[in-house]
Amino acid sequence: MTKPLLALAPMAGVTDAPFRLLCARQGADITYTEMISAQGMLQAPPNLNAYRFLTQVWPGEGKVVAQVFGTVPEYLSEAAKRLADMGCFAGIDINMGCPAHKVTGGGSGSALMKEPDLARELMRAVRQAVSCPVTVKLRLGWDSFTADTFAIMAQEEGLNGVSVHGRTRMQQYMGKADWQAIAQVKQAVAIPVYANGDVFSAQDGLDILKATGCDGILIGRGALGNPWLFGQIKQAMDGSGIPPPTPQEVVALALEHGRMMVDWKGEKHAVVEMRKHFAWYLKGMRGAAKARTAINHAETMSQVEDILQSFCEAQE
Ligand SMILES: Cc1cc2nc3c(=O)[nH]c(=O)nc-3n(C[C@H](O)[C@H](O)[C@H](O)COP(=O)(O)O)c2cc1C
Repeated sequence: MTKPLLALAPMAGVTDAPFRLLCARQGADITYTEMISAQGMLQAPPNLNAYRFLTQVWPGEGKVVAQVFGTVPEYLSEAAKRLADMGCFAGIDINMGCPAHKVTGGGSGSALMKEPDLARELMRAVRQAVSCPVTVKLRLGWDSFTADTFAIMAQEEGLNGVSVHGRTRMQQYMGKADWQAIAQVKQAVAIPVYANGDVFSAQDGLDILKATGCDGILIGRGALGNPWLFGQIKQAMDGSGIPPPTPQEVVALALEHGRMMVDWKGEKHAVVEMRKHFAWYLKGMRGAAKARTAINHAETMSQVEDILQSFCEAQE
């Protein structure tokens, strides 16, 4: 049996090149870009940095899937083609899972689960536009379970797999992800199905695979500040365990992440963009709240380094 695939789920504002690289190094088999607006990308002036950053893949990242969203088949197919032609992506994923109002309001993301005919058209358009693998990311449904129908549709349209977040759009992030419902989707199709929702530990990784019988897992929030989770799940699958990283290791990786961001976007942007990541890295450790407040007032990476140095010493 092939080993289950461990993927870093697409997360807007999070899964950029530096974070994907760190997760790949820690064992993620595949990672997703942040969602990319098909229309936005096609209409952006060539000198707009936002899309350049969104679509950049770094050496050493391994397999990266570009995720697109939109409602117009022609835009989605053209954007998919341009992304595929860049030659750095392992596949194209269509977002039919995002619950955010700014996305569903325009009819994209999980709102497509209310529009099966349009959803099919979009799948078909992207499939016909590119020769690389095409997947779709679903929720369980809009307000009731329909993900099995959409997975069958994906299979009929020649897609290479589906991922399913075990909540409906109406549930947003409330309650627990329904892994049994994901198992039903897995049963409904022959193409690979990837389970998603509430994997925060190595044990969760084993449990979701067992509960769903899926071909792999997408991990979102569990990877925030914790790229080690991928390696921990791999070890657990092999029947062994690895100790959690020490506070020193966590701080070292957080700083490496920060320096990558400085080299990429410049110090001013990096210090601000890294605030959330630093908070995630430090979460749960002694003195984290105080360090976080200090980092949120820092203006240079060397100030952040000083704060983290003292934080580290206080852990000993
Ligand atoms: C900050 C954040 C941003 C997200 N952005 C996207 C996105 O761009 N595309 C997408 O399909 N899902 C997005 N999601 C949803 C995740 O990919 C994932 O489906 C969801 O968080 C459930 O998985 P988890 O329990 O492992 O976090 C986002 C989630 C978070 C927390």
